[in-house]
Parts: sequence; C-alpha cells; structure tokens
Amino acid sequence: MATRIELTSTSPEHTIEIGRRLATILEPGMLVALVGQLGAGKTQLTKGIALGLGVPDARLVSSPTFVLINEYEGRVPVHHIDAYRLSSVGEFEALGIDELRSDGVVILEWADRVREAIDGDVIGIELTLEGATQRKLCIFCDSPRLADRLAKLRLSD
Ligand SMILES: Nc1ncnc2c1ncn2[C@@H]1O[C@H](COP(=O)(O)OP(=O)(O)O)[C@@H](O)[C@H]1O
Ligand SMILES: [Mg+2]
Repeated sequence: MATRIELTSTSPEHTIEIGRRLATILEPGMLVALVGQLGAGKTQLTKGIALGLGVPDARLVSSPTFVLINEYEGRVPVHHIDAYRLSSVGEFEALGIDELRSDGVVILEWADRVREAIDGDVIGIELTLEGATQRKLCIFCDSPRLADRLAKLRLSD
C-alpha cells in the first residue's frame, strides 16, 4: 500500500527536526528523493536527515557544488547529490548510484530531474514554499514496508 503524509513546517529548525525523525527509518539502500523550488528547504531537510543518521555537525551539509556528491560519515555513509548540477540523466546514472546505495543512504535534491533513473526503496518528499518561514512537506512512498514504518513515526508533533 502506498502512503502519503502531509506536514507543515513553521521554521528551519522544525524542518531539521522532521529530518531527524525521518532518518530513524532509513537504512542502506534507501534513496530520499527531494523535490521543490529553490529555497523550499531541501538542503535544510537534508541537514536534519544527516544529523539523524549520526553525522556530527549539520554545518558539514551543503548542496554539492564543485563536486557532484557530498559524502558525510554517520552511522551509515550519507551520499548527498544535487541533480540541479547534473546535465543529463546519463550523468546521474554514471555516478554509480547502485554502488552508493549498497553501503549507504542517498539523498537527492531536484530528484524530479532524473526521475526515470530512480528505482528501489524510495521516500519522496515534495517541499512547497508557503511563506517566509512556512513550508509544506508531502512525504510519499510506494514500498509497503517503508510505508508501514513511516506511518509509525510521529512526524507532526
Ligand atoms: N520552515 C522552513 N523550513 C526550511 N527552511 C526554511 C523554513 N523557513 C525558512 N527557511 C529558510 O529557507 C531556506 C531554505 O534553503 P535550502 O534548504 O537551501 O533550500 P533548497 O535546498 O530547497 O534550495 C533557508 O534559508 C532556510 O533558513
Ligand atoms: Mg539545496
């Protein structure tokens, strides 16, 4: 059964906290696909997920710019990719996503740009700007196993 959860974040710190909680259900092999316009909070959410995965300092987390993938060391490796930087789906495939997923979690900003190259255990999160400090987060996934774990998370209190 697919699932879809809608949340409202009211501050950058709130988005970090949502990311931290989400991280508790992540394990190697999973891909977090982030979608939303510039400033929607994709990198902010990534900071929270990274902290939740045991990365010691959120300041280590920023959108990859000069390199295509940022790597953070948590309880599992965290591979952070920004598809905005990629010129084609082929370039994304050339990153060797399957190998990255064999030992760690992949967090992918602008995932809609390489949608056709994404498969397996995926949690999709669409972030929408609703004001200076408010963001809507829509979380969805198709995997029944993940949907079940997501449903048990207390994301909205
Ligand atoms: N509720 C919120 N959640 C996330 N970011 C927020 C929120 N309110 C304000 N912001 C601000 O919006 C910006 C989001 O930037 P960033 O995470 O880099 O977005 P993106 O990666 O989607 O381009 C940051 O400057 C952050 O402080
Ligand atoms: Mg970003």
